[in-house]
Amino acid sequence: MVDVILGLQWGDEGKGKIVDFFAPGYDIIARFQGGPNAGHTLYVDQKKVVLHQIPSGIFHEGKTNLIGNGVVLDPVTFKRECEAVASFGVDYRKNLYISQRAHLILPTHRALDKASESAKGNDKIGSTLKGIGPAYMDKTGRNGLRVGDLLDKNFVTEYIKLRLKHQRLLDGLNFHEDISAWEEEFFEALEFTRQFKILNGEYFINDMIRQGKTVLAEGAQGSMLDVDFGTFPFVTSSNTISAGVCTGLGIAPQQIKEVIGVSKAYCTRVGSGPFPTELNDKTGEQLREIGCEFGATTGRPRRCGWIDLVALKFACMVNGVTQIVMTKADVLDSFEELQVCASYHIDGQSTEQIPYQMNRIDIRPVLKSFEGWKKDISSQKDFRNLPVEMKYYIDFINKYLGVQVTYISNGPDREQLIKVH
Ligand code: GDP
Ligand code: IMO
Ligand code: MG
Repeated sequence: MVDVILGLQWGDEGKGKIVDFFAPGYDIIARFQGGPNAGHTLYVDQKKVVLHQIPSGIFHEGKTNLIGNGVVLDPVTFKRECEAVASFGVDYRKNLYISQRAHLILPTHRALDKASESAKGNDKIGSTLKGIGPAYMDKTGRNGLRVGDLLDKNFVTEYIKLRLKHQRLLDGLNFHEDISAWEEEFFEALEFTRQFKILNGEYFINDMIRQGKTVLAEGAQGSMLDVDFGTFPFVTSSNTISAGVCTGLGIAPQQIKEVIGVSKAYCTRVGSGPFPTELNDKTGEQLREIGCEFGATTGRPRRCGWIDLVALKFACMVNGVTQIVMTKADVLDSFEELQVCASYHIDGQSTEQIPYQMNRIDIRPVLKSFEGWKKDISSQKDFRNLPVEMKYYIDFINKYLGVQVTYISNGPDREQLIKVH
């Protein structure tokens, strides 16, 4: 049996915290896509830790953590993360496995990401510059090197061949930075990665499922950044939706039970691209300040706005979401008035559907107002004690989406999560 936790917006919904909370109920926690573009924040012993590629179950003893075949792995960030995790006393070598089919992010992928972003000028995606796009391009272009190749004696020869191909592309993009320091770091980190348990992830996970073990699949990014269904071309390069769990771990769709979608009580986006409910005003700044909305990976300020139910309903549809965890509800505590987007106005027409090309059209969000609760909810533990205005806000969202909010997160700590009943 496999349950999934994934983001329903443009990433940074608080997936890390929620996976960390639910992890004790599962045997295996597995990442199925993305790479170090992800930044999942957890609090362990009141200390903040940001995970990029290691699954957010790593701090729970006795749980197996798997980096699945759908992930693109940067050995340099991986080594750094392992060291950070070890500083909490976690013996990561005991319970962290990597699929041999996961592709490697090479230093030249990072260089290509940087070069192609600067070549785009004003049309920049605003990528995390971690080499994600170029690494996935090599995968689908049937060029890339995989973690399993680290155990092959021809690895260096294959690396040099690919390096030459990349150099031609970099020359074409006028990129002439010296990346020899990155390469040195990379080869050091390869030695480190090689010592891990590199396994056949698909056999491993299916054997485990057959033995009755349970799996929690941890999504990275968000549904609106999905390469097929997101706001293309302002997306990431993987399938972030629940379908990605099958291809990213090698499990059959029948195995998936709960699809737990994580959404903020409002909305944020980092990087370029359409964001219909974005607030370029004082209210947007207030959300950013109260919500500490700065990227966990790049430190960039996140764009902020009201919750977009048109996008959220679309995300529920493409993922088959069975329940929603609403995060950062406490960030709205001091607002007099809240708004939610219930439809889009495009070319004089109203629609509740996501249009094909969101970036080339003028979308006016149609907003519905709600009274704010104006109370500090961050220490609340029981749903019954939550303000009536908040219950009304959530009830409207439940009805609009046809999916229930089952948990409300009211602070960054593990314990700050309220079950809805
Ligand atoms: P992820 O990428 O989806 O795991 O999310 P990030 O870690 O990038 O961003 C979420 C941020 O919000 C982190 O700084 C979390 O510590 C914080 N956070 C998570 N849940 C809550 C919540 O309910 N309230 C508040 N105030 N912060 C939260
Ligand atoms: P988590 O898992 C928020 C965004 C980037 C950029 C676009 C493409 O922490 O939610 P990429 O580097 O993937 O080629 O960038 O996607 N992006 C994210 N935004 N959270 C993330 O991950 C993101 N990963 C990528 O800002 O707009
Ligand atoms: Mg994040």
